[in-house]
Amino acid sequence: MNNSHGAVLWFTGLSGAGKTTTASAVLQKLLERGRRAELLDGDEIRTVICKGLGFSMEDRFENVRRIAYIANLLSRNGVDVLVSAISPYRAMRAYAQEQIPDFVEVYVSCPLHVCEMRDVKGLYAKARSGEIQHFTGVSDPYEEPLNPNITLCTSSAPLDENVQTVLAYLDQKKHRF
Ligand code: PPS
Ligand code: MG
Repeated sequence: MNNSHGAVLWFTGLSGAGKTTTASAVLQKLLERGRRAELLDGDEIRTVICKGLGFSMEDRFENVRRIAYIANLLSRNGVDVLVSAISPYRAMRAYAQEQIPDFVEVYVSCPLHVCEMRDVKGLYAKARSGEIQHFTGVSDPYEEPLNPNITLCTSSAPLDENVQTVLAYLDQKKHRF
């Protein structure tokens, strides 16, 4: 890893898998260690610079393109970036990886039925009833990462263990804290 660059930790996974929760907890730890760090969350970014984008493949790709662009700007200025976005297609994550020198793919793995049981935002129920279309995992694809740098299982490991796994990875890669 280039030490003048920040790392870009790209959390991908199903809705409700725990991307935002885990990335936010890692963000806190990095800030406590005196790092400059930012979280780019798909859900949130869709209310600002990605406002108006929907969930077609094209719009999701555009969403990821914009997020990757901002992540790159921040990273090359020494900021660690945590991205939490479903980013369901391998091709879009490969694109992000090509754009971003210190890209780390973090697969937030959780079985669909567990995400659906959690249904924190009530979106799975709406997807099943047809009120929401093109819902990832239900009526739209999610392509699991084939070779992620880190895999976190949120149904079997507690949050702090997953946070430690991410920090240990950065440490091992000699990323400065
Ligand atoms: S993507 O695929 O990367 O562009 O998606 P992302 O920007 O991460 O946005 C996902 C959040 O949007 C809400 N939502 C949906 N997700 C998936 N499919 C459909 N159709 C959909 N409609 C709304 C949902 O709250 C996602 O947030 P998370 O945090 O993943 O649950
Ligand atoms: Mg989220």
